[in-house]
Amino acid sequence: MHISLKEAYYKILTNNYSDVIFRGVVVAVVVAILVGWFRKGCERRIKKGEIPGKLGVSFLGETFSFLAAANSTRGCYDFVKQRRIRHGNWFKTRILGHVHVFVPSTEGAKRVLASDHAAFNKRFLKSMADAVGKKSLLGVPQEIHQRIRRLLSDPFSMNSMSKFVPKFDLELCERLKRLENEGKSFRVLDFTTKVAFDGICEMLMSVRDYSTLRKLESDVDAVNEAMLSFPVMFPGTRYYRGMKARRRLMETFTKMISKRRSGEEAPADDFLQSLLERDSYPPEEKLDDQEILDNLLTLIIAGQSTTAAAIMWCVKFLDENKHVQHTLREEQLSILRKKPDGALLKYEDLASMSYASKVVKETLRMANVLLWYPRIKKGWNVNIDATQIHYDSTTYEEPYRFNPSRFDEMQKPYSYIPFGTGPRACLGINMAKVTMLVFLHRLTSGYTWTVDDEDLSLERKAHIPRLQSGCPITLNRLDDTNT
Ligand code: HEM
Repeated sequence: MHISLKEAYYKILTNNYSDVIFRGVVVAVVVAILVGWFRKGCERRIKKGEIPGKLGVSFLGETFSFLAAANSTRGCYDFVKQRRIRHGNWFKTRILGHVHVFVPSTEGAKRVLASDHAAFNKRFLKSMADAVGKKSLLGVPQEIHQRIRRLLSDPFSMNSMSKFVPKFDLELCERLKRLENEGKSFRVLDFTTKVAFDGICEMLMSVRDYSTLRKLESDVDAVNEAMLSFPVMFPGTRYYRGMKARRRLMETFTKMISKRRSGEEAPADDFLQSLLERDSYPPEEKLDDQEILDNLLTLIIAGQSTTAAAIMWCVKFLDENKHVQHTLREEQLSILRKKPDGALLKYEDLASMSYASKVVKETLRMANVLLWYPRIKKGWNVNIDATQIHYDSTTYEEPYRFNPSRFDEMQKPYSYIPFGTGPRACLGINMAKVTMLVFLHRLTSGYTWTVDDEDLSLERKAHIPRLQSGCPITLNRLDDTNT
């Protein structure tokens, strides 16, 4: 999922535990880990000189430097950048007792990500596993992962996406209209976070009622927070609040399922329904109830903040590159003009958005919503450094220039991996792309905008790079005179 061990490390360390008891517990655990680690003698496994880098003093290694970068407005990737300047593109470091190797190459991505689970696995902390649930595809063993993933992939098919597009488009048009009427500056990030959340809930479970959505969102936020907290069920802690919120979410989802099964609620044309239609199938061809519940939550968590951040960066990059914005607007207006007045987008319309698709690709290359992809092998953490791969000047000419036309040409294998690759690649690729394309269509064919805060500082302690300002903009209606 979109939460790696490194986030957990710094979150656990930097948690503002107001509660002294928890400081005590944290210290006790750190000591326990230290003892265990010394016992294992991990140090002996690290043969000096194989990969450049500094492991630092025992256990702590470069933990403090990592935390300092993560707590700054430069973002945690600054830690990686600094080490690359010192040691070169490949380097090793140690954070909280674990050796991490940063792998910046396409060959590395191929070997590590495309290999089967047994070779390089994912590891999840207890708090993360508890938050998303034991049957979430994020934490289940390999054999179960394959089955759950196969059954979850089906509802992300083209067919489901074509039902999703007009529904999402309608909702988006109405919301943009409201913002236009208000005429005020608003934070794109807040807007896209809500839009992405509501879009995913619509697609998964046809939830549309505004107050239900906000209740669900506040509980999902609490679960998200718990994923990176210290896993002790003590009132007042983030873990406790998250687990309570998880219970409420499970109850809500369970009620939805039983209403549909009993016929109290008419069957909807959505993701949940497609899973329930398998009720009479043999066990290997369906998800059991707990699998359905845990994975509904997983998909919401995995899809919301990634998509929201990606759209925010897209708005920012387009503001900085007016010629790209102009070309994109021309394409989108020509699509709009071919449709009857007020008609909603259809999935087929997206096929004519060839420039917009390249804008989406270039946004994801430059924004690196997920900075690196962690895997583990024999106690070593291998991080495929997607950010460095996407900024490699031997693959991408002028890598710091926002240039969607670079995607006129084919990329070399494994050099473009914003959704990962292999058995753990993103399950929501189609949905993410569709959401971004619909958003770009409505924004550029309906509006121009001004960014009201140019500050490039990043949010502190965020595992997904996002502007601290949230990218505030003011919309101006695009009328026929300025098209
Ligand atoms: C722009 C938006 C998105 C980006 C950049 C993105 C990126 C990624 C990446 C890089 C991975 C693999 C991480 C790794 O290999 O360690 C991943 C996994 C995943 N993503 Fe996304 N994602 C996005 C949107 C979504 C959406 C909309 C959904 C679903 C609604 C989703 C669901 C998932 C799931 C379930 C996994 C785990 C797959 C598994 O472990 O088998 N993602 N995503």
